[in-house]
Amino acid sequence: MRVLAVCGSLRTASINAALLRTAQCLAPPDVEVSVCTLVGELPLFNPDLEANLPPSVAQLHAQVAASDALLIASPEYAHCVTGAIKNLLDWLVSFEPFVGKPVAVLNASPRAHHADAALKETLRTMSAVIVEAASVSIPLLGSGIAEAAMAETPWVAEAIHASLVALQGAPHPSVAPAADL
Ligand SMILES: Cc1cc2nc3c(=O)[nH]c(=O)nc-3n(C[C@H](O)[C@H](O)[C@H](O)COP(=O)(O)O)c2cc1C
Repeated sequence: MRVLAVCGSLRTASINAALLRTAQCLAPPDVEVSVCTLVGELPLFNPDLEANLPPSVAQLHAQVAASDALLIASPEYAHCVTGAIKNLLDWLVSFEPFVGKPVAVLNASPRAHHADAALKETLRTMSAVIVEAASVSIPLLGSGIAEAAMAETPWVAEAIHASLVALQGAPHPSVAPAADL
């Protein structure tokens, strides 16, 4: 299973990005997690640009099409999703291969429930399939656990592993060949 990990924070020291990199390290042998590096490179969504896609958007589309599932971790900003994750999702609204795509939403903050709910509502509206069993809260924010220690912290490692196993168990629609990447 190929999983595209998407972080909604552009911060260098992002906890959500660290969580996704840890998921990449902990992935079972038959699960390949790649972290999307395009989030900060995408232009602001503009339907006028859809006729002639900017290269970063075309790359994003290829990566999404070639993935069996998405794993999203994003912070809450002012009780909503971040502009970065919403912008990325806006570029996928009219992208047919995203329809029916299994998605897991990780929440790294114990108090950020508005963004979690808003993100799921957006994903549902876009006809993604939210894999609830894989969408877990891993309260790293305020825990003082550094990225290097995440994989060694049993409750963190177990939650990540359980999420990936649940994502793997979800039905997956067919994906585009890897050569499209
Ligand atoms: C502009 C801004 C707005 C924020 N708004 C909220 C909020 O409404 N609720 C909340 O729980 N945390 C809020 N936070 C805290 C972030 O969610 C928190 O710092 C999180 O760790 C950032 O994720 P990151 O480490 O992946 O960048 C906000 C942070 C920033 C910078």
